[in-house]
Amino acid sequence: ARPVSGDLATAAFTPVRPNRRDAVVTPSGFDHDVVIRWGDGVVAGAPAFDARRQTPEAAKQQFGYNCDYVGVLPLRDAKRDRKDRSLLVVNHEYTDEALMFPEGVYTDAEITAIAMANHGMSVVEIRRGSRAGSWRRVKSLKKTRYNRRVHIDTAFVLDGPAAGDERLRTSADPSGTTVLGTLNNCAGGTTPWGTVLSGEENFNQYFDLPEGQQRDERYTEAYARYGITGSGRGWSAVDPRFDLAAEPHEPHRFGWIVELDPYDPDAAPVKHTMLGRFKHEGANVALTRDGRAVAYMGDDERGDYLYKFVSRDSMRTGPSAKARRHNRTLLTAGTLYVARLVGDGTEDGEHDGTGEWIALCDETTSFVPGMSVADVLLFTRLAADQVAPTRMDRPEDVEPNPVNGKVYAALTNNSQRGSTFPPDEANPLTSSMVRSSVGAPLTPASGNRNGYVLEMSPAGSDHGASTFTWDLMLVCGDPEAPETYFAGFDKTKVSPISCPDNVAFDDRGNLWISTDGNALGSNDGVFRVPVAGAQRGNVTQFLTVPRGAEACGPLLTDANRSLWVAVQHPGEVDGATFEDQASTWPHTDDFPRPSVVVAFRDR
Ligand code: FEO
Ligand code: CA
Ligand code: CA
Ligand code: CA
Repeated sequence: ARPVSGDLATAAFTPVRPNRRDAVVTPSGFDHDVVIRWGDGVVAGAPAFDARRQTPEAAKQQFGYNCDYVGVLPLRDAKRDRKDRSLLVVNHEYTDEALMFPEGVYTDAEITAIAMANHGMSVVEIRRGSRAGSWRRVKSLKKTRYNRRVHIDTAFVLDGPAAGDERLRTSADPSGTTVLGTLNNCAGGTTPWGTVLSGEENFNQYFDLPEGQQRDERYTEAYARYGITGSGRGWSAVDPRFDLAAEPHEPHRFGWIVELDPYDPDAAPVKHTMLGRFKHEGANVALTRDGRAVAYMGDDERGDYLYKFVSRDSMRTGPSAKARRHNRTLLTAGTLYVARLVGDGTEDGEHDGTGEWIALCDETTSFVPGMSVADVLLFTRLAADQVAPTRMDRPEDVEPNPVNGKVYAALTNNSQRGSTFPPDEANPLTSSMVRSSVGAPLTPASGNRNGYVLEMSPAGSDHGASTFTWDLMLVCGDPEAPETYFAGFDKTKVSPISCPDNVAFDDRGNLWISTDGNALGSNDGVFRVPVAGAQRGNVTQFLTVPRGAEACGPLLTDANRSLWVAVQHPGEVDGATFEDQASTWPHTDDFPRPSVVVAFRDR
C-alpha cells in the first residue's frame, strides 16, 4: 500500500460512507483514541465514576456531561519543561437525564442536583501518546497543576459596561457583578492571547415559573424575545435563584460570552457584557491590521443574527504578565455590530452579495434610539431588531480562516424558512430534500433542512472593515438533490453533508466542519473541504460519530496530525433511556458516555 501522510490537510483517504454504526468511524489507515469520558476524574481527589452512585459533589470533580467546544493550548512549564503536555479545555453544554441515570436509583431532587453539577467547563492536562498525533489525559491527577472543573458554584466576574446594572442584581449578589456558574456552553474559541472564549447558548431553559406565580411585567418583552417562558427543568426546587418569580434578574446573568484563562487556575472566569447577550453559539477572534481584537459570533436561533465585536485597544504580544493582564481587558471596550446581508440577484447563478456591519453601541455610546448602552448589551436581540439586520438560518460557529482571511459561518438549518421567515438570497431555500434513513429515497421537506456554509470576505481583507462581500460556499444536502451546491465542484465526487454546526481550519486553510442533526438518515460527522484551488468545494467525510451523537469541536493541532472531536450525546435517539442501550459507546460500560476523541494516522 502507498504510504499515507499523517498530515490531515493533505492526506488522501477514502471518504467514510453514511452509516448508523455505534462507533467512531475513520477512514482506512486512521485511528482514534478516547481521551476523556463523562465521569473521568478532572481534579485531584475525584472519586471513581459509578453511574449508579453519582453525587453532585463527585460530578463537580469529574468530567461533565455533553462535551462540546474543544480547545488545546500548549503547556510550557519552565521548571518542569513539560513540552510534551498541553491543556485540553472543554465545554459541558447540557445534560440528558434519561441517558445519565438508571431507573429507580435516584430521587428527582438528586437527579436535578447531579445534572446541574454536570454543566460547565473542564481544563485537563494531556500528554502525547505513543503514536504520532495521539494524546491521552494525565491520569495521576495529583501531578497536574492546571486541572480545573468550572461548575454551577464557580464564581464568575461580570465585566464591561453593563456590569453592576440594576437588572443584573439579585438577592445573593446585590452588586450585580458576581455570577455563580455558566450554563449551556456550546462552542467557543481560543484567543490569540491564550485564553478560551465560551458561548452561553440556550440558557432560557433553566428558569422555572412555579404555578400560580407571575412573571415580572418589566421584562415581559425581553423574556419573550429570549424564549424565557418559565417552563424550565425544575432547578428552582434545588436552588431558588432559578425561580423566575423570586429572582427575575437571574436570567440576565446568563447568555454571555465567557473568558477563561486556563493558565491561571485561580483566576475567576469572566462574563463579558460588552459582547452582548443572546444565545451565544461561541466566539472566534481575529486581529485587525492594527492589532485590535475582532470576535465573530452567532446567535443560534431560527431567524437570528450574526454579530461581531471590535475592540477599542490593540493586543500586546509577548508572554509578560503585564501583556497578559492587558489582553484580558480587550473584550471590555469596543464596538458591537450586527450583520445585514444584501443579495445581488440570483441571475448570476450564485447566492452572493454585499454586507455591512451595523454598530449597536460602544462602551460609552448607544447607536440604537431609545436604548442605553446597558439596554443594548442586556437585551441585544431587541436592540438589533431595530436596525433591520438579516434574519439568518440559525447562525452557529463563525470563524475566521487564518490562511485566507475570510470568515466562515455555519447556518445549520431552518425548517421555517418559507413560512415564518421569508427567503432572501443569503437564506434562499424554502424546501429541501431529506432522507429518512441511509439508502432511503430523497423526499422533499419544507424549509432549509440541511444548512449552508456562508463565506464572508472583509473589505480590504481587514477584519476591522464595516463592509464585506459574501457567498454561500456550500448549500448542504445530498449531492443528488438539485438545490445543493458545493462551490461549483463536481457533485458526483463529494460526500453528502447535512446540518453544519462547528467549523475549524487546518494550517493550510482547509475548512473542517462538524455536523449536528443529519437530515439524510446517517450519523453525524466531520468533513474536510478545501476553500481554494481546484479542489474548492470538494467535501469529503473523514469521520462519523456513534448513533444519536452530534460531532462537536472539531480542532486540528500538531501540524494537522491530530483531529479533536467531542462526541456529544451518544444514544440520544427516539426517547431512549439509560437501559435502552441505543448506544453504549465508547463501549466501556453498558450505557453511553459523551467523550472527547483524537483521530490520527495509524502508522
Ligand atoms: Fe449548542 Fe447551536 O449548538
Ligand atoms: Ca447572486
Ligand atoms: Ca453547536
Ligand atoms: Ca470552531
